[in-house]
Amino acid sequence: MKRVLVTGGAGFIGSNFVHYLLREKNDIEILVNLDALTYAGNLENLTAIETDERYCFVKGDIRDKELVENLFSEYCFDTVVHFAAESHVDRSIEEPELFLTTNIVGTQTLLEAAKRHWKIHPEDKYSREYRGGVKYLQVSTDEVYGALGATGMFTETTPLSPNSPYSASKASADLVVRAYHETYGMPVNITRCSNNYGPYQFPEKLIPLMIHNASNDKALPIYGDGMQIRDWLHVSDHCAAIATVIEKGRVGEVYNIGGNNEKANIEIVRLILSELGKPESLITYVKDRPGHDRRYAIDNTKITTELGWKPQYTFEQGIAETIVWYQEHQDWLERITSGAYVNYYKKMYGDG
Ligand code: NAD
Ligand code: DAU
Repeated sequence: MKRVLVTGGAGFIGSNFVHYLLREKNDIEILVNLDALTYAGNLENLTAIETDERYCFVKGDIRDKELVENLFSEYCFDTVVHFAAESHVDRSIEEPELFLTTNIVGTQTLLEAAKRHWKIHPEDKYSREYRGGVKYLQVSTDEVYGALGATGMFTETTPLSPNSPYSASKASADLVVRAYHETYGMPVNITRCSNNYGPYQFPEKLIPLMIHNASNDKALPIYGDGMQIRDWLHVSDHCAAIATVIEKGRVGEVYNIGGNNEKANIEIVRLILSELGKPESLITYVKDRPGHDRRYAIDNTKITTELGWKPQYTFEQGIAETIVWYQEHQDWLERITSGAYVNYYKKMYGDG
């Protein structure tokens, strides 16, 4: 991992990953962050590393073939880590087409450029002879497996059964990645992670939205009965898992990532209220999300036993730190919750 293309590096997990790589990996020569800066992309997440000479930001769309092709020619990447996506389930219900083009066509555009460049090119100014070509890592999600009942866990062989336009677009992208491996022999991996939490998450997602609302004494909108279960993982554990898969993952393999941390939504919300010293009367039950998946749970046996990764954070430590982080970054939150966010919030939740 010396010459790395990270897509979506101005978003939540992508920006955490950029910080992680520049901090943890001494052999990085260049890290290019390609991001379109949609509502979810925020360069403020990266101010601490923006002057690092190994780092380069490019504003652009992963669907822009010419731009992507030029980046591969110019930088001779040996590693591609593809985070860029439309990532919010509720928005996918409102605007499915955007999810299909960004998440599927965007992935195929990157794969095609990687395919053209992954073999050893003698004319390349950075010889790939000892690097074995471009390794491509697709950052996917446990949502591609659909929903679980009260028991069972997702393994890598669980059939894909996505239920939302978002998860259908991610599952489709995974199949395209698989096809590029099977057909062209490209060295790829797919990771499927459970719900992440931590710094820099856009406050449309459960945890930052509830912290933000509770801090401002606003209603906390719980979909349906609040008993849906998610399997939470601190974002820095996700970043370490991705790096582990790039370095040690067997080519062509899928790796599930999760921390055995199943919690019902209502439990999380109560915990946030209690940590912030706010009353449970702020909880408001609202109309359920259409097609709402009841339960996700990741079986992480493959990545833990085969690659030796394991999460470092307990949920108790991670959530406490995360709540403090959002409290200490009120300015960051205020800047991204003004403007377009106000209209989004009204559309989704009314004036509550
Ligand atoms: P995010 O919405 O916070 O960030 C997405 C980033 O992609 C933004 O910076 C945005 O500007 C960029 N982007 C969107 N469309 C683009 C385009 N056409 N061209 C270039 N850049 C574009 O998302 P996130 O929560 O950080 O998720 C990152 C990835 O991880 C996604 O692929 C998501 O499916 C996956 N994932 C997320 C979670 C989670 O809990 N958040 C869990 C598992 C997997
Ligand atoms: O499982 C991985 C996925 O986790 C990622 O692939 C997605 O990109 C990411 O957005 C996340 O999807 P979820 O739909 O699980 O996350 P979200 O934060 O939107 O919702 C978590 C749970 O909380 C879900 O059951 C819906 C519920 N919820 C969410 C919001 C925003 C509420 O009850 N009220 C809310 O206002």
